[in-house]
Amino acid sequence: MVKLLVAKDYEELSELCTKEFVRCLQTQATPKLGLATGSTPIGTYERLVELNRRGEIDFSSTTTVNLDEYMDLPPSNEQSYHYFMHHHLFDHINIPRENIHIPEVDRKTADEDIKAYDKILDKVGRRHIQLLGVGVNGHIAFNEPNRRQALRTNITELTEETIKSNSRFFDSIDEVPTKAISMGIGDIMNSDQIILIANGENKHWAIKTLLESDFVDFQYNPATILKLHPNLLIICDEACYNG
Ligand code: GLP
Repeated sequence: MVKLLVAKDYEELSELCTKEFVRCLQTQATPKLGLATGSTPIGTYERLVELNRRGEIDFSSTTTVNLDEYMDLPPSNEQSYHYFMHHHLFDHINIPRENIHIPEVDRKTADEDIKAYDKILDKVGRRHIQLLGVGVNGHIAFNEPNRRQALRTNITELTEETIKSNSRFFDSIDEVPTKAISMGIGDIMNSDQIILIANGENKHWAIKTLLESDFVDFQYNPATILKLHPNLLIICDEACYNG
C-alpha cells in the first residue's frame, strides 16, 4: 500500500519525516534504522540532532545501516557518505559508534567489501524504517535504471545523469566517482516501513511515474519496485508533486 503525504515545502516535509522517526525511536526498544544520504534527508537529520540534544529522543540502543558509498573516496573525503553521515548526524547524537554501519570500500577486493556488507545486513536484519531519497532518474541508493537489479550489495556504475546531478557537491564533474557500492533492492525492501522523501521540481518525474505506474519497470524507473512493499510512505513537497 502506498501512502502519500504532500508537504507545502521542504521544511514541512522534514517535519513529517522526523515525526515517523520519533515515533519509531519512542516505541521500539532497539530501533533499527536504514539511513540515506543526499541533500533531501539533511532537514530530517537536523531535527533529529536537535531533539536528541533536548533529550526528547535517545539513540543509545539504535542500530543503523546506510545505503551506499562511493568507490575510491576515503572516509575522510568530505564528499564521502561516511563523512556526510558523521557530519550531519552521527557526530551529534548519542549512538554507540559500533552500532553505525556504512558500506566500506577498503578491503583488498570489491568482492570482499560486498561480502562484508551483506554479512552486516544479515546480522542487523529487518529494519523498522528504511529512509530513501530518489535520483532524478528514479535510482534508489545507487541502483541505477537497469533491467537486472541486484538483490544484495553490489558495485554499480553510475549513469551520466547521476554523475551530472551529483557533481553539484564536487568542485568539478571529473572528481565525481564513477562507481559506488550499494545496498541491493532485496535488502532495501527488508524493512517494516519504507519512507521515500523527495523535494523540488527535478524529482517530479521520478515520483509522478512511481505514483501513476501500474507496473514495475527497473529500466524505466527503478523506484517502481517500491510499490511491492506493503508499507511505503512517500513524503514529497508541492513543487515535486505538481512539477
Ligand atoms: C545519491 C544517493 C541516493 C540519493 C540521491 C538523491 O545518488 N546515492 O541515495 O537518493 O543521491 O540525492 P538528493 O537528495 O541530493 O537529491
